[in-house]
Order: sequence, then structure tokens, then C-alpha cells
Amino acid sequence: MVHAGLKGIVAAESEISLVDGERGQLVYRGEWASTLAKEKSFEEVVYFLWNGSFPSEKALKEFSTKLLEARYLKPYQKDILDRLPDSMDMMAVIRTVVSSMGNKADTFPSTEQEGIKIVGLIPTIISYRYRSLQGDPIIEPDASLSHVANFLYMLKGKTPDENHVKALSAYFVLTMEHGLNASTFTARVIASTESDLVSAIAGAIGAMKGPLHGGAPTGVIDLLEEIKKEGSAERVLKRKLENKEKLMGFGHRIYKTRDPRAAALSDITSNFYDDEEFKLAHEVENKAVELLKEHKPGRNLYANVEYYAAAILRSIELPTELFTPTFTAARCAGWVAHVYEQNQNNSIIRPSSTYTGEIPEE
Ligand code: COA
Repeated sequence: MVHAGLKGIVAAESEISLVDGERGQLVYRGEWASTLAKEKSFEEVVYFLWNGSFPSEKALKEFSTKLLEARYLKPYQKDILDRLPDSMDMMAVIRTVVSSMGNKADTFPSTEQEGIKIVGLIPTIISYRYRSLQGDPIIEPDASLSHVANFLYMLKGKTPDENHVKALSAYFVLTMEHGLNASTFTARVIASTESDLVSAIAGAIGAMKGPLHGGAPTGVIDLLEEIKKEGSAERVLKRKLENKEKLMGFGHRIYKTRDPRAAALSDITSNFYDDEEFKLAHEVENKAVELLKEHKPGRNLYANVEYYAAAILRSIELPTELFTPTFTAARCAGWVAHVYEQNQNNSIIRPSSTYTGEIPEE
């Protein structure tokens, strides 16, 4: 029997995360991802995901220092970035520069330093490319800022708003890991051949690049724009539901309750109610859930992660074309964790296929 898309097939044991669609739960190594997003920095959660324990103050300082040292592009990487055609998609650019990081000394099993180099550099690749395409001067990393704050700083060229950093940090923590999704599986397949970390991550970026995985918040952003323009959430949402249109950012294939990532982002952003964009997002969510219950009873339709991701990206004025790259900057930490785990108990991943062609005569 063929299981198309390997749906329902368990291909690995993992201690890294639990995704429970029925209960609406996301757990990282025995901790609620939502609690981590509220209480811990990106740096702390990456350390936790890779090591299985929280860092001491000293270990966190050392880890953060290594991460910030990895923010700097090497001259040859700047040269590659400068030579790539303008028409090249940002995900292809990230994949190309990450690919250029491989060298003869790459080891098996992969080391922490190799992971740090990739996670540390991806935000710089994105901001360098983004600003050069805009014709804006390149902003060098600021060593006094956290990983996420520095990403915003390098994109915008000014010290980011504290609430925006908090919201984006929570987004980074909540999206860094989500079980054996397509890109994570890709990374594990590559690692299972005892290949190197750079190859595994370059492959994972390739998987993330596809529209069925990387997602796009454009639909949610369009919805929020339309509501803002018309001045009434109820009118716009009702009209869409009466016209049998789907409300973007609501419903989920796995989560039949509120997506725990949306719930956590909602909680976190509700503290920044003075930000008009977050305020609007919260009001629209409440109204949409109420109307979905009325128009689609029993379908259990709630906000998904895309909804609050879009609200956050919109609020911090991140262009929509940077959504999947930003998701990649977060998810790469999860990919690295899976490669380390695959390295520890390796068995080559090599499923079978059923031959459906002709058999030659003997
Ligand atoms: N707005 C209005 N109705 C919706 C809806 C939405 N966002 N999502 C699902 N429904 C309705 C469907 O029309 C269908 O109604 P019916 O029973 O009368 O035919 C029912 O709920 C089941 O929908 P279905 O598409 O079969 O659910 P699914 O679990 O297969 O699909 C999604 C999940 C995510 C594809 C779907 O909810 C969707 O398209 N959402 C909007 C796009 C989005 O936010 N995508 C990002 C996901 S992270």
C-alpha cells in the first residue's frame, strides 16, 4: 500500500517537539512553546532546542557571543551577493549563500559551531540582499543588539521599537520548530547519508521555498487592509462569508482548535494595545471567529499562525516578500536541531517505491 505524501507514516522518533492538532498543543522538549515565547529569548530557546537544557548565565553569554560573531558576511559572500542577478528570488539567494559556506573541514557529526554559523548569518543575508535591491546603503550588524533586534535594525537602519522586537522574537520562537514537516524531513534525509550540515540546510531551504510550505501572509494582509479602508470588520467579513469566500488566516488542516502559535502570539501582542495594527488584528480575530461559528457551524475554524504572523509583519512594516525568508531565519534553528538528533542515532532514510511500469520478457 502506498501512503501518498507519507501521510500518517511515522518516520522518526524525536525528542525535539510535539505537535498535537486535536488538543492544539505545541511542546518543545517538554516545555510549552507558548511559555518559551513569552519568557525566553530566541538565543535561549535555540540553545535549549539543541542541548535539551537551558543555558547557565555564562553558557548563554558564550552562545550569544558566538551567534553574534557569526552575523558578519565574509568578503567572498558579499561578492556572491553582489553578483547574483536582481531577478533571483530571496529564498534562492539564501540557499546559494548558505551553500557557499560548505568547506572541506565539514564534519560528521555536525558541530554546534557549524549550526551557529548558519543561524547567525541568515538574517544578514536577507537584509544585505533586501537593502542592496532597494538601492539603500548596507547596514552592518550591531553587536549590542539581540539576534532578532539586530535583524530588524539591519533591515531598517534604525534602532527597532521594543514592542516590535518582542513580537518578532515571539514569532521566531514559535516558528523555529514544528515536527517532521517537509523541510525538516528534507534536512534529516540529507543528514542520514552522513552528509554535512550545510548540505542539509541548503536542501531544507529548497523545500521551504515551495509555496505549499513557506506560506504567504498576503491574503491576511489584504483582508486587514480592506477592513481598515472600509472601517467595519463586521461588514467586510460578513460579505466575504456570504460570497462563500474563505477568511484568510483562519482554519487549519491539523489544528481543529485555536492554533497554539496564534494563541501565544495573540497573548503577547495584546500587551501592545497602543499599537493600532495589533489592536485591529485582535478585534478582527474576535469578530471573525464569532461569524465563522454562525456561518460554518461545527467546522471549528479559528485563527492560524499565518494570521498573527501577518499582523506582526504588517505592524513592523516588513515587506510581504520577506515573510518566507523571515520564517526561514527562524526555522533554520529547528532544522539544525533535527540534524544533530539524526546524527546521534543515524540510519539512512531510504523508503521504497512500488514499480508500476512494464516488465521486460525474460
Ligand atoms: N473561512 C471560511 N470558511 C472556511 C475557512 C475559512 N478560512 N476554512 C475552512 N472553511 C470552511 C470550508 O469552506 C468548508 O466548509 P464546508 O464544510 O461548508 O464545505 C469547511 O470549513 C472545511 O474546510 P476545508 O478547506 O475542507 O478544511 P481543511 O482543514 O482541509 O483546510 C485550510 C484547512 C487551512 C486549507 C483552510 O482552512 C483555508 O483555506 N483557510 C484559509 C487560508 C489560510 O489561512 N491558510 C493558512 C494556513 S496555515
